[in-house]
Amino acid sequence: MKNLLSIEQLSKKELTDLIEHAALLKSERGNHASKPLAGQTWAMIFTKSSTRTRVSFEVGIRELGGFPMFLSGNDIQLGRGEPIKDTARVLGRMVHGAVIRTFAQQDVVDFAEFSKLPTINALTDDEHPCQILADLLTVREKVGGWEGRRFAFIGDGYSNMTRSWMWAAKILDFDLTVAAPVSCQPPADFLASLDTDRVKVVVDPKVAVEGADVINTDVWLSMGQEDQKEKEAEFEGFQLNSDLLSGAAANHIILHCLPAYRGKEISEEALEKHAGTIFQQAENRLHAQKAVLVALAMA
Ligand code: CP
Ligand code: NVA
Repeated sequence: MKNLLSIEQLSKKELTDLIEHAALLKSERGNHASKPLAGQTWAMIFTKSSTRTRVSFEVGIRELGGFPMFLSGNDIQLGRGEPIKDTARVLGRMVHGAVIRTFAQQDVVDFAEFSKLPTINALTDDEHPCQILADLLTVREKVGGWEGRRFAFIGDGYSNMTRSWMWAAKILDFDLTVAAPVSCQPPADFLASLDTDRVKVVVDPKVAVEGADVINTDVWLSMGQEDQKEKEAEFEGFQLNSDLLSGAAANHIILHCLPAYRGKEISEEALEKHAGTIFQQAENRLHAQKAVLVALAMA
């Protein structure tokens, strides 16, 4: 595996191997036998805010023997309009790998091409692959895996999170029902390219939650959409709360990639009731991304 640019591009084996390795690295934390990033510097270019992704990558790179170099997109010349392909060609001559959080997926693709560095998508408008790896590790730990489990995603049906989850459902063969307001549903051409009967899209969140084992949500307005406040009105009835969750499977778990807006996509009560899972999910970012870093460093 040369890069991690999306879930879409992973094979079933690559995806399951990453999760298995993440579980192993988690069990060996503080005691890693090898340091595959020894002597390496990894650039972390972020043009959007981050707590979990930034901290987990900085810690993970250090624990694997490397040096993280955080570069805020606004502080480097990229923020003044230097093209991504020029930034990439410069960094490609100096550092050993790159982690990028930005808006356009094409920028991450271009960075990988022009830098020739192992490149990791740390969130774009299209996908959040590192998060989905951590989520799947959490599902493995909490409910024993995805086989035969029913998944629901409640909220924006065409965000980076939902898109990555839809690809994961196709690749790993599990049933995922996405409930989203009509204006936030995946368009027909995306569903055609997904080409799977594992993913269903509905308007009624109760239909998606009914009998579900794993229920996932995310902010209603992703980074970059903050000025579209009027969209929030369309999410009436989409909050994960005790009423909506009453139809879920008896031992269901809740996932939230965080940050969460209590009182919007999730109630205070639901978040606190499921905090054990949700913060385990956040911790799993570290272990999942270490598996990615090792896979790229060894390629
Ligand atoms: N879930 C996630 O990516 O969190 P941050 O935005 O804090 O990195
Ligand atoms: N969909 C959210 C995820 C945040 C981790 C966003 O892009 O803001």
